[in-house]
Amino acid sequence: MGLRWMSLCSILLFLCVCCLGVDEGAGSPGEHGDQLRRMWLHSMRNAKNRQKAAVEQASPFRGLATHQLLYSPVGIGFHLQILTNGSVGGVHEPSEYSLLKVFAVRPGIVGIRGVKSELYLCMSRQGIVQGLRKFSNECLFKEHMEENHYNTYSSLSHVGLFLALSHRGQLRKGHRVGRHQASTHFLPRKPLPH
Ligand SMILES: *[C@@H]1O[C@H](CO)[C@@H](O)[C@H](O)[C@H]1NC(C)=O
Repeated sequence: MGLRWMSLCSILLFLCVCCLGVDEGAGSPGEHGDQLRRMWLHSMRNAKNRQKAAVEQASPFRGLATHQLLYSPVGIGFHLQILTNGSVGGVHEPSEYSLLKVFAVRPGIVGIRGVKSELYLCMSRQGIVQGLRKFSNECLFKEHMEENHYNTYSSLSHVGLFLALSHRGQLRKGHRVGRHQASTHFLPRKPLPH
């Protein structure tokens, strides 16, 4: 009888030691504290992110997250810009006029609007590109990702006319260029936060 109790006790003692051993494997008391601190920081961060997301959703500036630059690799590299007088061209250092909103109206079909100028990028039958206040079919572009992962933008209503910049950052007439020329390639980029 006494022997049985003793073996039971030793089993219990053994289990206790095992448990402690496992606990120790997870970290010393100091590490345990660190772990708790990390978990707490993690949950705080999650809460903060959730709060931020909620604010962004409610804010009128929500669209800001979707603003972008269209970078052209030709010449020294340019960012497409739409000035308030309707002029469209490239500028090396992105300006407030190169902040664009590229929005899809159907899969693969987009409109491009200057955030500052509030003008839509439109292309005429003659391949002339300008910023216009009034949105029309001439302001719709087929967005196509090329093999090099740059996008091309071709007019939806005037087939074969591409948005293109010259090596000096000037707008090229749409019908003289094709999708294989670097002048038609644009990389959508996120503006860097200020
Ligand atoms: C718009 O303004 C720019 C810079 O001020 C100028 O170079 C360009 O010629 C103007 N375009 C038109 C259509 O007036």
